[in-house]
Amino acid sequence: MLNGWVVSVVFITLLVSLCNPRGVSDIKTLDFSQTHTHTLFSFLSTLQYDFYRESCPNAENIVRSSVANIYSHHHDISASLLRLFFHDCFIQGCDASILLDPITGDETYSTEKQAIPNLTLKGFHEIDQIKEELERVCPRVVSCADILSLATRDAVVLAGGPFYPVFTGRRDSTRAYFKEAMADMPRPDDSINRTLYLFATRGLDERDMVSLLGAHNIGKIGCQFILNRLYNFSGTNLPDPSIDPEFLNQMRSKCQEKENNDNSGSQDHMSPASSPVSKEASVEKLRRSTLDMSYFQELSSALSSEGGFDTHYYKSLLSGRGLLYADQQLMANEKTGRLVQGYASDDGSTFRRDFARAMVKLSVLDVLTGSQGQIRERCGY
Ligand code: HEM
Repeated sequence: MLNGWVVSVVFITLLVSLCNPRGVSDIKTLDFSQTHTHTLFSFLSTLQYDFYRESCPNAENIVRSSVANIYSHHHDISASLLRLFFHDCFIQGCDASILLDPITGDETYSTEKQAIPNLTLKGFHEIDQIKEELERVCPRVVSCADILSLATRDAVVLAGGPFYPVFTGRRDSTRAYFKEAMADMPRPDDSINRTLYLFATRGLDERDMVSLLGAHNIGKIGCQFILNRLYNFSGTNLPDPSIDPEFLNQMRSKCQEKENNDNSGSQDHMSPASSPVSKEASVEKLRRSTLDMSYFQELSSALSSEGGFDTHYYKSLLSGRGLLYADQQLMANEKTGRLVQGYASDDGSTFRRDFARAMVKLSVLDVLTGSQGQIRERCGY
């Protein structure tokens, strides 16, 4: 009994420090602080540590071993789940609404999955796999929202990222939010002001945002998301002037190399970099070939050290080598630029600590609990 109290007190203390390492006054400097301080803290009364300890005692172990098994075959599961989780939590909270499939026969119903920013998300099948395993042991007990939260944490740790506590007891949404995903997901070509605004409306401050973007330390980026930067920035027909010139050439040739490989044998292939006449047609071709979602370029890891959870993302921003415009924009604001500088200049421990804290904040955004929502039998519907 006493042990239980001690554990609770330790966790509440840890929680408060993780949620608000710099004091509530810091959070309140944001325009939307009143609402979102509430959003951030409302989970304290509802989510719990080890929520399934009685209803499905093995739940967290099952998630952990499934993720480890998937990871042993596909290391890219960590990046896939981390991105999927971010896209779920950012729109109407961590409620697994991102996992819902379109309803067959109902053309009027659009899901979050179908929204443009979500078209290249991966990891759905793996979450379904874990859910199936859990359904065999504890039918209709463990929510898809909790599975995604736990699996993401476990996958981050496997990729060399920091451990952070995941509180459970989330329930699943009964609907998806297509319009909200179209309007409110940050875009790769967003300015720093718009990105800051979108994060602030969710109670995530500059430090949270800059550390969360460190997720771009791992994974892949399709060339489609940087083509405008490489060839036609803001309709100028010129590259983004903020790109380091040597890096521009590297990115162009990496993307082109991939396109060449994909099209070897194709008769009408043209190189965008080779002649001005062929440029437009080739860029269009590059863009089209990316739309089939099979065109991924491992630029991050190709142009960095190990591609793990270290500080290479921040170091690359310092030298003008961010992949997305939105990444590089972190250097265009004094406060975010200072944070980048700070993360880049130690052994990675500051970034890892802040990333862990920010992931806890992200993971409790607008959660459904108690009798809200539902526990889905399958995550897709
Ligand atoms: C300004 C905010 C952000 C923008 C504009 C953005 C945009 C993107 C884009 C365009 C990609 C490439 C996707 C593809 O090629 O299919 C990507 C990849 C990725 N993003 Fe973000 N992102 C943002 C923030 C975040 C955050 C906060 C996280 C996680 C906490 C995250 C995690 C990832 C991961 C892990 C990948 C690699 C996915 C993979 O390899 O499967 N992103 N992001």
